[in-house]
Amino acid sequence: MYKYLSYVLTISMLLSTTSTPEPCTHDTMGSITWDKDDGWAGEPYWKDAVFYQVYPSSFKDSNGDGWGDLPGLISKIDYLHELGVDVIWVSPIFESPQKDMGYDVSDYQKIYEPYGSIQDVDNLLREAHRRDMKVILDLVVNHTSQEHEWFKESRSSKSNPKRDWYIWKPARYDSNGVRHPPTNWRGYFAGPTWTWDELTQEYYLHLYAPDQPDLNWENEECRNAIYENTMLFWLDRGVDGFRIDTVNKYSKKGYTDAPITDPTSPHQSAPEMWCNGPRIHEFIHEMNRKVLAPYGAVSVGELSNTPHPHQVIPYVSAAAQELDMVFEFSVIRLGTGNILGPKYIYQPFPLSKLKSLTEKWQTFVAGTDAWTTVFIENHDNARAVSRFGDTSTEEMWKRSAKTIALWQITLTGTLFLYQGQEIGMTNMPASWGIEEYKDVESSGFYAEAVDSGDTERVRKTLHGLSHLARDHSRIPFQWDGSANAGFTSAGAEPWMRVHDEYRSINVARQRDDPDSILSFYKEVLKLRKQHREVLVFGTFELLDPDNEAVFAYVKEDSKRPGKKAVVVLNMSKDQQMGPDIVSILDGEMPQLLISTNSEGSLKLSNGRPVLRAWEGRVYVNY
Ligand code: NOJ
Repeated sequence: MYKYLSYVLTISMLLSTTSTPEPCTHDTMGSITWDKDDGWAGEPYWKDAVFYQVYPSSFKDSNGDGWGDLPGLISKIDYLHELGVDVIWVSPIFESPQKDMGYDVSDYQKIYEPYGSIQDVDNLLREAHRRDMKVILDLVVNHTSQEHEWFKESRSSKSNPKRDWYIWKPARYDSNGVRHPPTNWRGYFAGPTWTWDELTQEYYLHLYAPDQPDLNWENEECRNAIYENTMLFWLDRGVDGFRIDTVNKYSKKGYTDAPITDPTSPHQSAPEMWCNGPRIHEFIHEMNRKVLAPYGAVSVGELSNTPHPHQVIPYVSAAAQELDMVFEFSVIRLGTGNILGPKYIYQPFPLSKLKSLTEKWQTFVAGTDAWTTVFIENHDNARAVSRFGDTSTEEMWKRSAKTIALWQITLTGTLFLYQGQEIGMTNMPASWGIEEYKDVESSGFYAEAVDSGDTERVRKTLHGLSHLARDHSRIPFQWDGSANAGFTSAGAEPWMRVHDEYRSINVARQRDDPDSILSFYKEVLKLRKQHREVLVFGTFELLDPDNEAVFAYVKEDSKRPGKKAVVVLNMSKDQQMGPDIVSILDGEMPQLLISTNSEGSLKLSNGRPVLRAWEGRVYVNY
């Protein structure tokens, strides 16, 4: 009887265009608490944990040398704790010539001096663990730096015991006796994947820069050295796991030419020759069995060029015992031309594409024992609010950053945030010239365009870089409105230029403002945990796939079917009507759980939300 009455009352209230349903005031520490008996109690901690990627060179500099460091990071650990971060992923901090920002390691057991020392890592672990937080390091073991001792030995002679730890091949010669590399492959940073070594008269393989020679995982001694020297060393010091770089490129398929897809270049795109090769699952399983599993270490692998769910599942199926999670890049790569050649020729895309890709990577684990991740920023991609939101005015910037937050926190899988996402950091200003782009990939693509002599290609590449370059996410973190944005001391020269907008976009300005993007992130990260059975673990059903303005979907508790949340995100500049929430929730009592709109009307009109520009809301029926 009571249920019937409340149903009638709710429906009549919602159908009225003048009524305003009360949002649930979820006092995060009080009224609604995380339901321990939600059926997911036995799941590993990392599934509903919030991971946060720190790019250490740009996070916080403690000693005024313009380069972020570990003491700086430690000084901000309470900031991360208050935000709601559970696990800190630190991008590479090991000794390195920094040709690719530390993704070129010359000693896995030493810390690059400007970052600090190994004692600083111990301090970071202690301070994190004291707060019940965890720390994972970036494991870069597809390649080393050419300055690594292993490579120096390997290149010293053909008979060196470590010769086979890297991939060496003889040259090919054409009928004129001209020397050519063993294959025609193009590397990730433009140019060939092979470099000639004068001393031993062979080529070595490098999928990335010539400074980053690929290790030979076929060699068992080399694999064991990787486990011992890199992983076990850090696990024994107390790290909680790894983000594993280029995890699907260790098993090469063979050394034959790729088909010619770019007749203007001698170097052809060939990722199928090294992604997901014949022994890859054997290698990852071995890594898990020998190293990760005995320590209970969490693992998240970078899985590029693997766009089919049937290829992804074997890496993350629990039964396979390989990786806990992977990053699949279809959504974050939207707008890029491709992974290789035309990557920086910007391709506009409709919202329906974003929606269908989100659907694909939300639903692929349903009914399996696999698990997935949620992320929209990292150090290899430009800023989400500049790419998927609207930075045309301050108001639109703020609204769209919150709507993106709501999109992310309502998706199934483990959530990863990237530094600065929580304050809506934007791309570098469009007025900045190419000299502000420091990344090896940006430089490689730009140089290639210039060398082609094609001015239109140069123009398009510059345009693409201004939208998509990796540099955008690497500029100094904006802590406050003081000189150098509080990233480093006032007189110092930061290693990358500080954003022109740092006085308006920074933590200090947002920390005490209840309407800020930062405050919103804090709130919704708590909400995500409180409603984890639906938001973190729920199923996903896309609504109205062809609507190019409103992104709407239903999340449902798979253990208690019928318990639902409806997420409606207006991803446009105009007011929009959302779907009929009342019917979607089968006439149950819809409640507004959260809205990005802290002011103004939250009315439903005939059961449908009227969303102002860039407004997002979540309704629940429980
Ligand atoms: C992926 C990393 O995320 C990227 O930054 C790096 O350049 C390549 N792997 C090479 O390690």
